[in-house]
Amino acid sequence: MKTTGGTDDQKRRAGERAAELVGDGDVVGLGTGSTAAYAIREIGRRVDAGLDVRGVPTSFDSRALAREAGIPLRSLADVDGVDLAIDGADQVDDDLQVIKGGGAAHAREKVIAAAAAKFVVVADPSKPVTTLQRPVPVEVLPDAYAAVERDVDELGGTATLRRGEGKDGPVVTDNGNLVLDCDFGPIDDPEALARVLSPIPGVVEHGLFVDLAETVYVGTDDGVTVRRRD
Ligand code: A5P
Repeated sequence: MKTTGGTDDQKRRAGERAAELVGDGDVVGLGTGSTAAYAIREIGRRVDAGLDVRGVPTSFDSRALAREAGIPLRSLADVDGVDLAIDGADQVDDDLQVIKGGGAAHAREKVIAAAAAKFVVVADPSKPVTTLQRPVPVEVLPDAYAAVERDVDELGGTATLRRGEGKDGPVVTDNGNLVLDCDFGPIDDPEALARVLSPIPGVVEHGLFVDLAETVYVGTDDGVTVRRRD
């Protein structure tokens, strides 16, 4: 379910601009995906130049990249709070509601975004839409996937178990769970959908990030457009 679209330069502009928001002494949530990776590398360069930060990675991959970039790391349990989290998106609508989880990292991403005083989304121009309409990634306990599929069906959606690439069988998340990509068509009310998905037994976390993003940076061919929550 990884999205494609957008150029590396567009992603780089968004990621690097967001990295400028990081201040000395900050605890920073480090997102997952190709756009957040540019922010991580830029924070690493700023650490090299003397910036004092601690990074809280959202995934195996963001931890590895941050380590390589020289960013001192902490787990969420070891910090008093998160000043700023920077992460990518699969889609973002006009109200800054977001679908994440194309890389199956949305459970930790959401915990860290929600813990952050400020959650900044970095994206390329293929991500903004008027109405969210991608399938919503839902991380589920392995034993619960068939039951959750039925529940999603009753809600009017269609759930598809995400399959691995370079591996037979399903994608297994960093938390040892499975992912159902749940197609509900256009999502006119993301908050209402989030409210019915969260309590389904066996659902660990879904990829609707409602009222979390404060700012969205979209990298373009010649700059960055900034959208802020009213
Ligand atoms: C990871 O699970 C996702 O939430 C990513 O943040 C999202 O898929 C965006 O990734 P790209 O920046 O690579 O498009």
